Amino acid sequence: MSEPTIEDYYVEDRTFPPSADFVKNAVVADRSHYEEATEDYEAFWARQARELLTWDEDFHTTLEWNLPYAKWFLGGKLNVSYNCLDRHVNAGYGERIAYFWEGEPGDTREISYAELLDEVSRFANVLKQLGLQKGDRVAIYMPMIPELPVAMLACTRIGVAHSVIFGGFSPDAIIDRCEDAEAKLIITADAGYRRGVPSALKVNVDAALDQGASSVRHVVVVNRCDTEVVMAEGRDLWWHELMADSSSECPAEPMDSEQLLYLLYTSGTTAKPKGIMHTTGGYLTQVAYTHKTIFDIKREEDVYWCAADIGWVTGHSYIVYGPLTNGCTSVMYEGTPDTPLPEFRSGEDRADWSKDRLWDIVERYGVTQLYTAPTAIRTFMKWGAADPKAHNLNSLRVLGTVGEPINPEAWMWYHENIGNENCPIVDTWWQTETGGHMISPLPGVTTTKPGSACHTIPGVFAELVDDDGNPVEQGGGYLTITHPWPSMLRGIWGDDERYRDTYWSTYENRYFAGDGAKIDGDGYLWLLGRVDDVMNVSGHRIATAEVESALVDHSSVAEAAVVGATDEITGQAIIGYVILRGGNEPSESLGEEIRAHVATKLGPMARPKAVFLVPDLPKTRSGKIMRRLLRDVAEGRDLGDTTTLADASVVAEIRDRASSDPQED
Ligand code: WTA
Repeated sequence: MSEPTIEDYYVEDRTFPPSADFVKNAVVADRSHYEEATEDYEAFWARQARELLTWDEDFHTTLEWNLPYAKWFLGGKLNVSYNCLDRHVNAGYGERIAYFWEGEPGDTREISYAELLDEVSRFANVLKQLGLQKGDRVAIYMPMIPELPVAMLACTRIGVAHSVIFGGFSPDAIIDRCEDAEAKLIITADAGYRRGVPSALKVNVDAALDQGASSVRHVVVVNRCDTEVVMAEGRDLWWHELMADSSSECPAEPMDSEQLLYLLYTSGTTAKPKGIMHTTGGYLTQVAYTHKTIFDIKREEDVYWCAADIGWVTGHSYIVYGPLTNGCTSVMYEGTPDTPLPEFRSGEDRADWSKDRLWDIVERYGVTQLYTAPTAIRTFMKWGAADPKAHNLNSLRVLGTVGEPINPEAWMWYHENIGNENCPIVDTWWQTETGGHMISPLPGVTTTKPGSACHTIPGVFAELVDDDGNPVEQGGGYLTITHPWPSMLRGIWGDDERYRDTYWSTYENRYFAGDGAKIDGDGYLWLLGRVDDVMNVSGHRIATAEVESALVDHSSVAEAAVVGATDEITGQAIIGYVILRGGNEPSESLGEEIRAHVATKLGPMARPKAVFLVPDLPKTRSGKIMRRLLRDVAEGRDLGDTTTLADASVVAEIRDRASSDPQED
């Protein structure tokens, strides 16, 4: 027998079936979608496309698949903004709230579908006046304000592709992305509120345009914070001035199903960012289907909240396109969870401020679905349960997570402290490249297991394979997707070769996602992180995610990151970095106890060689742990590229700890 691709240590046997009450009213309450899609997945997606969307012209062919290029719903014509707005207004739902928007300082707006349509139409006319045409690309670099979805939808109305650049990125990132896409326009704001103060954006655009991005002809600026900005004559224009003069008559233009909808750049670990291409009909079908069924959306009653940033794919698919296509009411929040409303900020020192803004928002708006990331959940664990306990969270019905493997203990904490043991948790695995959810429970059907994303959704097919590409029936392997899916990426902008190499060349005839996973005896999938995050300890291939879950399983641990550091004897040695839950003091004996806990949970093979109790962990701005930097620290190297690091001071602190008090053999 060949040696296992990734070994399988963590055993989790708690299970949570949906309650009878939930099943009774669930959008999907039985296995019929799975059965239909297994029978004929093209017909299944064709039905979803026709039922969930409004087409100007029906499609004649569901799928054309010339590996690795897919086209969905050929011959079909539709407009995304029409599907998100006009048709709801035409059907008499113009007064329904599309977004309850809340700024960080506490200013609010209730934006109805009719108002959103009005603003989108006016901004689409602005785009036309600025000379933009179907097929052009526009960069958007904005805070989480209503003008951001307005700008995106206005692009879709006239067939312009947007490229949203996350507001936390630097001028260099703006240059790279605008140059690669040859963007003609940047839409930005003076600043946005973050952590209690305006965080400048326009200056970064200015810096970028001083150095490069010469394709950009105009910059449209929203005045969000009233901070001082320099407006370049002829180039820079105020949003409010353009909008004041713009007509709200702007018919939605029917687009080909395969019309480019947007580019979203994702960074590889080293090389230049990849412009992931998404198109119209297939993308909208899958995000609408998954949003509706996985969050169990009842648009008449629900107040849905995805607490991500629109700068990431999660925000594209599950703040903008999915929820609006389904005509539901969402919350959109500008700021950070640890910035309370001004009246609740006690004193000047941020450290004294309460960290309950999310729970405050859930209570005030009666949020029914909350979608957030494991990294946020572990941060809430670290802050303690007192903040959520101080609020009435009974309106919540479904909880979601995305972005990283969720450790069983974090799942249980979410279940108990936020869901009041009463809300199904949907752990959704997907990627910028997949456009929409791929692996997730259906809340009214699936019996969940804490830490498992469970099964592929109806119409999506995955298989684990070993190093040689042979299917793995049980245990660890590489996660591959075996059939095309409607919201799959259509390529990398301007780089077909990289598209083939990155996703389609590792295993023949399969999409390789870059993630490891394991499948248990009941056929449940457990995501194990990026395959670069697999360690090799004395010949055993152990996933960092499993050791992290065992660390977080200890009652004093809130969050953990594990890396393999080069070791003369074992090849790699497991090094853990641990953040304690509120109320625990670091000590040598606690570190020892935590190491021993991993050995009990996973076996002695997985016991970390050292555990460092640290105040914080280095993360990217989207909240993923930068294990590469922790490896640099563990191996005593200079740090490599730190441009994507959210807070650079964290690494210095970890270094200090790591050199002073290792819990080591
Ligand atoms: C990881 C975010 C485990 C995974 C939507 C993937 C997850 C990468 C999960 C994509 C999950 C996302 N469980 N891991 N539920 N969801 N990931 O492009 O490694 O920002 O490949 O898309 O996040 O990140 P991206």
